Amino acid sequence: MLVFSAETSCDETSVCIMREDKTVLSHIVYSQTIHTRHGGVVPELASRAHLEILQQITREALKESGVKLNEINLFSATCGPGLIGGLLIGSTFTKSLSIGNSKPFIPINHLEAHILSSFYNNEIKFPHLSLLITGGHTQIYFLKNYNDIQLIGETIDDAIGEAFDKVAKILGLSYPGGPEIEKKALEGNENSFKLPHPLINEDNFNFSFSGLKTSVNLVAKKNIINQIFIKNMSASFQKCIGTILTFKLNKVISELYKKNSKDLSVSIVGGVANNDYLKKCFKNIEEKKAIQFVYPPKQMMSDNAAMIAWATILKHRNNHDINFRPNPRLTVK
Ligand code: KG4
Ligand code: ZN
Repeated sequence: MLVFSAETSCDETSVCIMREDKTVLSHIVYSQTIHTRHGGVVPELASRAHLEILQQITREALKESGVKLNEINLFSATCGPGLIGGLLIGSTFTKSLSIGNSKPFIPINHLEAHILSSFYNNEIKFPHLSLLITGGHTQIYFLKNYNDIQLIGETIDDAIGEAFDKVAKILGLSYPGGPEIEKKALEGNENSFKLPHPLINEDNFNFSFSGLKTSVNLVAKKNIINQIFIKNMSASFQKCIGTILTFKLNKVISELYKKNSKDLSVSIVGGVANNDYLKKCFKNIEEKKAIQFVYPPKQMMSDNAAMIAWATILKHRNNHDINFRPNPRLTVK
């Protein structure tokens, strides 16, 4: 069985052709550069870019894989959550291919695809914990099995990636801000600035990052933004994020997770999972709590169509729905 999938929910235009045995025959990710100068994604520009690029990379993927369109057995696309323009373009395009070839179309939930991405390259036992850290979401999920995915904590305001991007903008760094901050932080002193840890002592598994961003802004206004400041603030901000995540994960693991499972594993998924400093923080938890932390392959961390194809393979038996309408606020369950 061959699957063709598209991902267009934000600023990556991506397609993938995957075989049922999870061999990737072609995977193209086009990261739109047009947003760099705006310090964040401009939805209208993203839609136009998806429209221009999607057909082109589909042709390239077919050529690269040596697969003919009429040999594809299953079509799928991200149908939410995300920016509605991109969702409409990706899903309408892929639905058209499926109708034109008389093959099923499967709508894929972007969040579920991120969560399931770590199952691609890891043998994971249930129950399992997944920390989803992206530009739009910061959530903790408890998985009893593939179809029983329960949200147990999330941000009440900004997502972590969004906080990285906004702090980068304050510091005059380009978009996406996460990798820029990580780079600058390598040469900074993480103890230079004391930043707040919102919600850290609350009796729940939720997060809040907008106050943290405001604190960075207030400190920045009182300082000259030179290279030393940028490096020290990047390191201090990143340390603060690491402390918050470590604290909350420790809390979930001891209060909820340990009671349910002995073979403990936690997956870290989404674009922010690329961050090596945060990986070191998770390594510390791993060593202290005897819990394994797992990650998707690098190509499946930031937005990509391979995770959509993989989720399609895992879900296709019970989820054919050509009439599913794109939903910018789609949630898991
Ligand atoms: O998963 P993703 O590609 O898209 C969404 O679903 O939102 O995540 C994008 C986010 C951006 O906010 C970007 O700044 C962040 O992931 N990011 C990072 C790093 N690489 C990407 N954040 C921190 N450190 C990184 N190395
Ligand atoms: Zn994403």
